[in-house]
Amino acid sequence: MFQIPLRLLRKSVACQVRALHRATPVAGGHGLVVHRDSTENNPDTPFEFTQENLKRVDDIVANYPKGHTAAAVIPVLDLAQRQHGWVPLSAMNKVADILGMPRMRVYEVATFYTMFNRNPVGKYHIQICTTTPCMLRDSDSILNAITAKLGIKVGETTPDKLFTLNEVECLGACVNAPMVQINDHYYEDLEVKDINEILDDLKAGRSPKPGPRSGRQTCEPFTGLTSLTEPPTGPGFGVRDDL
Ligand code: FES
Repeated sequence: MFQIPLRLLRKSVACQVRALHRATPVAGGHGLVVHRDSTENNPDTPFEFTQENLKRVDDIVANYPKGHTAAAVIPVLDLAQRQHGWVPLSAMNKVADILGMPRMRVYEVATFYTMFNRNPVGKYHIQICTTTPCMLRDSDSILNAITAKLGIKVGETTPDKLFTLNEVECLGACVNAPMVQINDHYYEDLEVKDINEILDDLKAGRSPKPGPRSGRQTCEPFTGLTSLTEPPTGPGFGVRDDL
Protein backbone atom coordinates (compact mmCIF):
# COMPACT_ATOMS: atom_id res chain seq x y z
CA MET A 1 0.00 0.00 0.00
CA PHE A 2 1.25 3.46 -0.79
CA GLN A 3 1.34 6.04 1.98
CA ILE A 4 -0.70 9.18 1.45
CA PRO A 5 0.93 12.24 2.98
CA LEU A 6 -1.51 14.12 5.24
CA ARG A 7 -0.90 17.33 3.34
CA LEU A 8 -2.11 15.69 0.12
CA LEU A 9 -5.07 14.09 1.83
CA ARG A 10 -6.23 17.47 3.14
CA LYS A 11 -5.65 19.03 -0.22
CA SER A 12 -7.52 16.30 -2.03
CA VAL A 13 -10.54 16.61 0.23
CA ALA A 14 -10.54 20.34 -0.37
CA CYS A 15 -10.33 19.70 -4.09
CA GLN A 16 -13.19 17.26 -4.24
CA VAL A 17 -15.80 19.84 -5.03
CA ARG A 18 -13.88 20.99 -8.04
CA ALA A 19 -12.51 17.57 -8.95
CA LEU A 20 -15.80 16.04 -9.95
CA HIS A 21 -15.88 16.59 -13.63
CA ARG A 22 -14.01 19.84 -13.33
CA ALA A 23 -13.08 19.67 -16.94
CA THR A 24 -15.02 18.52 -19.92
CA PRO A 25 -12.34 17.22 -22.24
CA VAL A 26 -13.31 18.04 -25.76
CA ALA A 27 -10.23 17.53 -27.88
CA GLY A 28 -9.71 14.04 -29.11
CA GLY A 29 -13.42 13.36 -29.19
CA HIS A 30 -13.83 12.73 -25.45
CA GLY A 31 -16.59 15.28 -25.19
CA LEU A 32 -20.20 15.14 -26.21
CA VAL A 33 -21.22 12.23 -28.36
CA VAL A 34 -22.51 14.57 -31.00
CA HIS A 35 -21.13 15.19 -34.44
CA ARG A 36 -21.49 18.58 -36.03
CA ASP A 37 -20.07 19.04 -39.50
CA SER A 38 -17.10 21.37 -39.48
CA THR A 39 -14.63 22.43 -42.14
CA GLU A 40 -12.17 19.79 -41.05
CA ASN A 41 -14.62 17.02 -40.11
CA ASN A 42 -17.47 16.33 -42.47
CA PRO A 43 -18.52 13.53 -44.83
CA ASP A 44 -16.26 14.99 -47.55
CA THR A 45 -13.09 15.15 -45.46
CA PRO A 46 -10.57 13.31 -47.65
CA PHE A 47 -9.80 9.85 -46.31
CA GLU A 48 -8.59 6.77 -48.13
CA PHE A 49 -6.68 3.85 -46.66
CA THR A 50 -3.20 3.53 -48.13
CA GLN A 51 -2.53 0.46 -50.24
CA GLU A 52 -0.41 -0.96 -47.42
CA ASN A 53 -3.20 -0.44 -44.90
CA LEU A 54 -5.80 -1.92 -47.25
CA LYS A 55 -3.74 -5.12 -47.11
CA ARG A 56 -3.75 -4.85 -43.33
CA VAL A 57 -7.53 -4.47 -43.40
CA ASP A 58 -7.73 -7.72 -45.40
CA ASP A 59 -5.53 -9.45 -42.84
CA ILE A 60 -7.63 -8.14 -39.94
CA VAL A 61 -10.90 -9.17 -41.57
CA ALA A 62 -9.46 -12.63 -42.26
CA ASN A 63 -9.25 -13.18 -38.50
CA TYR A 64 -13.03 -13.35 -38.25
CA PRO A 65 -15.45 -16.00 -39.50
CA LYS A 66 -17.06 -15.51 -42.86
CA GLY A 67 -20.18 -13.37 -42.54
CA HIS A 68 -18.88 -11.65 -39.41
CA THR A 69 -16.71 -8.94 -40.91
CA ALA A 70 -18.44 -6.34 -38.70
CA ALA A 71 -16.49 -7.84 -35.80
CA ALA A 72 -13.39 -6.20 -37.30
CA VAL A 73 -14.76 -2.70 -36.76
CA ILE A 74 -12.58 -1.80 -33.77
CA PRO A 75 -9.20 -2.83 -35.21
CA VAL A 76 -10.07 -1.29 -38.59
CA LEU A 77 -11.11 1.99 -36.94
CA ASP A 78 -7.86 1.85 -34.98
CA LEU A 79 -5.94 1.43 -38.22
CA ALA A 80 -7.75 4.44 -39.67
CA GLN A 81 -6.79 6.47 -36.62
CA ARG A 82 -3.16 5.39 -36.78
CA GLN A 83 -3.00 6.40 -40.43
CA HIS A 84 -4.83 9.72 -40.11
CA GLY A 85 -4.05 10.68 -36.52
CA TRP A 86 -7.75 10.84 -35.64
CA VAL A 87 -11.01 9.46 -37.04
CA PRO A 88 -13.01 11.89 -39.17
CA LEU A 89 -16.58 11.07 -40.12
CA SER A 90 -15.41 10.18 -43.62
CA ALA A 91 -13.08 7.52 -42.18
CA MET A 92 -15.97 6.00 -40.23
CA ASN A 93 -18.00 5.93 -43.44
CA LYS A 94 -15.12 4.28 -45.26
CA VAL A 95 -14.83 1.63 -42.54
CA ALA A 96 -18.58 0.98 -42.79
CA ASP A 97 -18.36 0.61 -46.56
CA ILE A 98 -15.38 -1.77 -46.37
CA LEU A 99 -16.96 -3.94 -43.69
CA GLY A 100 -20.40 -3.85 -45.28
CA MET A 101 -22.17 -2.55 -42.19
CA PRO A 102 -24.53 0.38 -41.58
CA ARG A 103 -22.69 3.62 -40.95
CA MET A 104 -24.63 4.16 -37.73
CA ARG A 105 -23.17 0.93 -36.32
CA VAL A 106 -19.67 2.32 -36.86
CA TYR A 107 -20.62 5.67 -35.31
CA GLU A 108 -21.95 3.79 -32.28
CA VAL A 109 -18.60 2.08 -31.77
CA ALA A 110 -16.47 5.16 -32.44
CA THR A 111 -18.49 7.30 -30.04
CA PHE A 112 -18.57 4.67 -27.30
CA TYR A 113 -14.83 4.02 -27.07
CA THR A 114 -12.93 7.09 -25.97
CA MET A 115 -9.72 5.75 -27.50
CA PHE A 116 -11.09 6.92 -30.83
CA ASN A 117 -10.32 10.57 -31.35
CA ARG A 118 -13.16 12.09 -33.29
CA ASN A 119 -11.50 15.47 -33.53
CA PRO A 120 -7.93 16.32 -34.50
CA VAL A 121 -5.27 15.82 -31.85
CA GLY A 122 -1.68 16.95 -31.75
CA LYS A 123 1.26 14.69 -32.58
CA TYR A 124 1.46 13.83 -28.90
CA HIS A 125 -1.85 13.19 -27.21
CA ILE A 126 -1.37 13.55 -23.47
CA GLN A 127 -4.05 11.89 -21.39
CA ILE A 128 -3.66 12.61 -17.71
CA CYS A 129 -5.49 10.47 -15.21
CA THR A 130 -7.04 12.44 -12.35
CA THR A 131 -9.22 9.71 -10.89
CA THR A 132 -9.05 9.15 -7.12
CA PRO A 133 -5.79 7.14 -6.68
CA CYS A 134 -3.94 9.45 -9.05
CA MET A 135 -5.55 12.50 -7.45
CA LEU A 136 -4.45 11.30 -4.00
CA ARG A 137 -0.94 10.97 -5.36
CA ASP A 138 -1.11 14.61 -6.47
CA SER A 139 -1.96 14.31 -10.14
CA ASP A 140 -2.98 17.97 -9.82
CA SER A 141 0.67 18.97 -9.62
CA ILE A 142 1.38 17.02 -12.82
CA LEU A 143 -1.61 18.56 -14.57
CA ASN A 144 -0.55 22.03 -13.47
CA ALA A 145 3.00 21.39 -14.65
CA ILE A 146 1.74 20.36 -18.09
CA THR A 147 -0.58 23.32 -18.49
CA ALA A 148 2.14 25.70 -17.31
CA LYS A 149 4.77 24.26 -19.62
CA LEU A 150 2.62 23.94 -22.72
CA GLY A 151 0.42 26.98 -22.16
CA ILE A 152 -2.76 25.04 -22.88
CA LYS A 153 -5.71 23.95 -20.82
CA VAL A 154 -7.42 20.57 -20.75
CA GLY A 155 -9.07 19.94 -24.10
CA GLU A 156 -6.69 22.21 -26.01
CA THR A 157 -3.92 21.69 -28.54
CA THR A 158 -0.74 23.74 -28.75
CA PRO A 159 -0.59 26.12 -31.72
CA ASP A 160 2.24 24.07 -33.28
CA LYS A 161 -0.08 21.02 -33.16
CA LEU A 162 2.53 19.10 -31.18
CA PHE A 163 0.56 18.45 -27.98
CA THR A 164 -3.08 17.88 -27.07
CA LEU A 165 -4.00 17.61 -23.40
CA ASN A 166 -6.96 15.64 -22.11
CA GLU A 167 -8.06 14.63 -18.64
CA VAL A 168 -9.27 11.03 -18.44
CA GLU A 169 -10.63 8.52 -15.98
CA CYS A 170 -8.57 5.66 -14.50
CA LEU A 171 -6.13 4.19 -17.01
CA GLY A 172 -5.58 1.08 -14.93
CA ALA A 173 -2.13 1.96 -13.62
CA CYS A 174 -3.23 3.19 -10.19
CA VAL A 175 -0.40 1.42 -8.39
CA ASN A 176 1.98 3.62 -10.39
CA ALA A 177 0.05 6.83 -9.73
CA PRO A 178 0.28 9.57 -10.77
CA MET A 179 0.60 8.77 -14.42
CA VAL A 180 -0.09 9.99 -17.93
CA GLN A 181 -0.58 8.23 -21.22
CA ILE A 182 1.10 9.82 -24.21
CA ASN A 183 0.05 8.16 -27.46
CA ASP A 184 0.63 4.44 -26.86
CA HIS A 185 2.90 4.79 -23.83
CA TYR A 186 2.35 5.07 -20.09
CA TYR A 187 4.61 7.31 -17.98
CA GLU A 188 4.24 6.47 -14.32
CA ASP A 189 5.30 7.33 -10.76
CA LEU A 190 5.55 10.90 -11.97
CA GLU A 191 6.91 13.91 -10.19
CA VAL A 192 6.84 17.39 -11.63
CA LYS A 193 10.46 17.16 -12.76
CA ASP A 194 9.65 13.92 -14.61
CA ILE A 195 6.80 15.32 -16.66
CA ASN A 196 8.88 18.38 -17.50
CA GLU A 197 11.70 16.14 -18.72
CA ILE A 198 9.27 14.03 -20.74
CA LEU A 199 7.77 17.08 -22.43
CA ASP A 200 11.23 18.51 -23.12
CA ASP A 201 12.30 15.23 -24.70
CA LEU A 202 9.22 15.05 -26.90
CA LYS A 203 9.63 18.67 -27.96
CA ALA A 204 13.23 17.94 -28.92
CA GLY A 205 12.19 14.90 -30.97
CA ARG A 206 13.57 12.41 -28.48
CA SER A 207 11.69 9.34 -27.23
CA PRO A 208 11.49 9.33 -23.44
CA LYS A 209 11.53 5.88 -21.90
CA PRO A 210 8.02 4.79 -20.91
CA GLY A 211 7.19 3.16 -17.58
CA PRO A 212 7.85 4.16 -13.96
CA ARG A 213 10.15 7.14 -13.45
CA SER A 214 10.85 6.10 -9.86
CA GLY A 215 13.40 3.49 -10.84
CA ARG A 216 11.35 0.58 -9.63
CA GLN A 217 10.59 -2.36 -11.85
CA THR A 218 7.04 -2.02 -13.15
CA CYS A 219 4.82 -1.94 -10.03
CA GLU A 220 7.01 -3.77 -7.54
CA PRO A 221 6.76 -2.43 -3.97
CA PHE A 222 9.12 0.45 -3.19
CA THR A 223 10.17 -1.40 -0.04
CA GLY A 224 11.28 -4.53 -1.88
CA LEU A 225 9.49 -7.74 -2.58
CA THR A 226 6.82 -8.78 -0.12
CA SER A 227 5.92 -12.05 -1.82
CA LEU A 228 7.56 -14.53 -4.15
CA THR A 229 10.79 -13.93 -2.25
CA GLU A 230 12.03 -17.52 -2.52
CA PRO A 231 13.07 -19.44 -5.61
CA PRO A 232 10.11 -21.18 -7.20
CA THR A 233 9.62 -24.76 -6.08
CA GLY A 234 9.28 -26.10 -9.60
CA PRO A 235 6.92 -28.59 -11.20
CA GLY A 236 5.41 -31.29 -9.02
CA PHE A 237 5.51 -29.32 -5.77
CA GLY A 238 2.67 -30.32 -3.48
CA VAL A 239 1.41 -32.95 -5.86
CA ARG A 240 0.61 -36.40 -4.45
CA ASP A 241 3.29 -38.99 -5.08
CA ASP A 242 0.86 -41.38 -6.62
CA LEU A 243 -0.25 -38.94 -9.29
S1 FES B 1 -6.57 6.19 -10.90
FE1 FES B 1 -5.04 6.87 -12.26
S2 FES B 1 -4.49 5.03 -13.26
FE2 FES B 1 -6.10 4.40 -11.96
